[in-house]
Amino acid sequence: KSRPVADRVGRPLRDLRISVMDRCNFRCPYCMPDSLYHEGFRFLAPEERLDFGEIERVARVAADLGVTKLRLTGGEPLLRPDLQDLVARLARIPGIEDIALTTNGMLLRRQASALHAAGLHRVTVSLDSLDPDVFARMSGGRGDLTTVLDGIEAARAAGFPRGVKINTVVQRGVNDRGVPALLAHFRHTGVIVRFIEYMDVGNRNGWERGDVVTSRDLMTRIDALWPLDPVSPAYRGEVATRYRYADGGGEIGFVSSVSAPFCGDCSRARLSSDGQVFTCLFATSGTDLRTILRDPAPAEDDGALRRALAAIWQRRADRYSEERQERRSRTAISEHGGEDDKIEMHYIGG
Ligand code: GTP
Ligand code: 5AD
Ligand code: SF4
Ligand code: SF4
Repeated sequence: KSRPVADRVGRPLRDLRISVMDRCNFRCPYCMPDSLYHEGFRFLAPEERLDFGEIERVARVAADLGVTKLRLTGGEPLLRPDLQDLVARLARIPGIEDIALTTNGMLLRRQASALHAAGLHRVTVSLDSLDPDVFARMSGGRGDLTTVLDGIEAARAAGFPRGVKINTVVQRGVNDRGVPALLAHFRHTGVIVRFIEYMDVGNRNGWERGDVVTSRDLMTRIDALWPLDPVSPAYRGEVATRYRYADGGGEIGFVSSVSAPFCGDCSRARLSSDGQVFTCLFATSGTDLRTILRDPAPAEDDGALRRALAAIWQRRADRYSEERQERRSRTAISEHGGEDDKIEMHYIGG
């Protein structure tokens, strides 16, 4: 008896991205630059983060409102102790058809089989380069390439039913030249590599439009090496545009949030680790659900929680990436990010 909700422009709520941990063991300069996320940075205290029971309650009412996909993110979600226990709880929720995890892979080798056993369907590992120096730089000097590759192997070996993907953020002059090597490594392995246009998320990464390599550019370069054929979208509102190698080497994808925004079909809500809901990756504020979750005199069911989440979605009108595009066509001048009070990505996940 689910009661689907739609936002102000008719977009359903289908996808809930749950940040289980605001901390990260990397300091990717495009997300958490080391100069800003240092020793003194105040991350959430453990008691500020939702516990597994609280996360499960939000996921249950979300499923009741139409959510079928869950994605666990961070920061780095594998820093959250016993994450497999949360997966097991989420996997039992009626209506949830797909549970995915986004991780930087550093802690994956040890946890892959437990996550699989708990019911996780798929894993997406962020990997920006196979060049150890570039990799080190893009993880803020914290990552170890061999460890991450071992993690990816462990995930493949665990046999997640919907497989393993790689997400690669492409920055001009930083890692774009390593794209062919990355593809060569994963061709014929069944692992799908997806290239993400570097975005102006948060306020701290110093984004400039010139740093973006558009999907079209990249696609042309790759097609010259290994001819590609388009693949039709798996579902309405799919984030990535898909291609397959004509020679049977497998599938790749492009996430073009800067050059070809996909807000029109965006059905994603994001839950921060302290229980705020954000209706856009570029939102400037969220709506707190933790107060309701921690109400000392809770109702029998989660009616208040369900009504709160439904109301958040019903007043949603966000379409930031399309507006960025429109701003750009109005003003010919180059942009430097824009607003300065957007939420940071490590806090709500990608
Ligand atoms: P699949 O379900 O495997 O298709 O994954 P997904 O594309 O929904 O999720 P994933 O986390 O792998 O998304 C890849 C990247 O696309 C993210 O890390 C973000 O950088 C970007 N992205 C995902 N969702 C959005 C969104 O709603 N808006 C924008 N602008 N970018 C997004
Ligand atoms: N632009 C594009 N993608 C980003 N990610 C983090 N910051 C950015 C950004 N500025 C990606 C990560 C990871 C996912 C969680 O989000 O690389 O794949
Ligand atoms: Fe890098 Fe992901 Fe950590 Fe951000 S959350 S610093 S993108 S590994
Ligand atoms: Fe959705 Fe906001 Fe991304 Fe547009 S910019 S696709 S509305 S999260």
